[in-house]
Amino acid sequence: MSDTLTKLAYQGFQQGKSIFGLTHKNLSSNLKKLLYPELEKQVKTLAPAVLQKLQERMERLLEVDWQDAEQGVYPTSILFDNPWEDFFLYYPVVWIDLFQIWERLKNKKYQEFSPDIETEKYPKYYLQNFHYQTNGYLSDLSANLYDLQVEILFNGTADPMRRRSLAPLINGLKIFSDTPPYQIRVLDVACGTGRTLKFIRYALPKASLFGTDMSPAYLRKANQLLSQIPGELPQLTQANAENLPYLDNYFHAVTSVFLFHELPAPVRQRVIEECFRVTKPGGVFVICDSMQMDDSPEFMPLMENFPVLFHEPFYRHYTTDNLQERLEKAGFVNITTEVYFVSKYWVAHKPLEKEG
Ligand SMILES: C[S@@+](CC[C@H](N)C(=O)[O-])C[C@H]1O[C@@H](n2cnc3c(N)ncnc32)[C@H](O)[C@@H]1O
Repeated sequence: MSDTLTKLAYQGFQQGKSIFGLTHKNLSSNLKKLLYPELEKQVKTLAPAVLQKLQERMERLLEVDWQDAEQGVYPTSILFDNPWEDFFLYYPVVWIDLFQIWERLKNKKYQEFSPDIETEKYPKYYLQNFHYQTNGYLSDLSANLYDLQVEILFNGTADPMRRRSLAPLINGLKIFSDTPPYQIRVLDVACGTGRTLKFIRYALPKASLFGTDMSPAYLRKANQLLSQIPGELPQLTQANAENLPYLDNYFHAVTSVFLFHELPAPVRQRVIEECFRVTKPGGVFVICDSMQMDDSPEFMPLMENFPVLFHEPFYRHYTTDNLQERLEKAGFVNITTEVYFVSKYWVAHKPLEKEG
């Protein structure tokens, strides 16, 4: 396929995902109004100018995603990656689960777990039905539905947003150009179902990849996904990001996608400090998470609506939290930020050790 045709196909593919996400949200919101009128919430309406800006930001995200693939940062084939099997298996279940979600909303139960789930070993902040998900992050069903739910939430742009971490990751690794590619170690903290690790595998086919997450169910799902792709299987370990089970200075690069908005402020600091500890001097740390009030004030209504519509108890604080300051406090230097669509990226470096 010529480049122009591939680009058109990619744009069409993304448009399809966007239409699907919007249609699903419209239908489910109308059904909720009909069945649970009492659950209608006061949310801010988005002005046409805000919606226009949002559309422009989305188009820019997709354009840069395309350009990175075209320039070889990652293969164009991964632009079309989609968990089709999961889609056909679990999309009907997304609808069935909605009824449980609405019941949970009606009864205002946001920390509800099945009795067979051992909750004792997890920190209290983690025991939440984030996004009102049934069993939070602690069941196989939740792990099976997660990617579909996130794709619907972001109108099909979750993966393009994750892929924005790849160029800074590859750039940050240039300092280790004398190290053989198979000796490069990259850790994805809170890897969830493994989608970012999958993209990293295609961008760095020879590197040793590692992923940690607190949820055994999400790690099982990640293992399923990652064992289907060629190359060495990433090492997946269950761990709290506040206490990573690795030696100091072990990784050439560390990434983390969509984690920090789900952590209380002091935990955000501890996780950043752990990421600093395990990164090698000269190594890079890339964070991808939600946009914030200071970089995107025009999207304030959107950021205010998010925790009203989804159970996100730490999001409001996150939107005004100064992560740059937190990164500096941990010891990171040379920190830059970028915003794409509704995500923000911090690229931070661990200083090289001074020669004694
Ligand atoms: C919104 S999901 C993001 C998952 C994945 N990175 C992605 O791109 O979809 C948040 C993830 O963080 C994990 N998590 C939350 N708090 C954690 C902690 N303290 N330590 C390790 N993982 C944590 C959850 O289990 C979940 O998989």
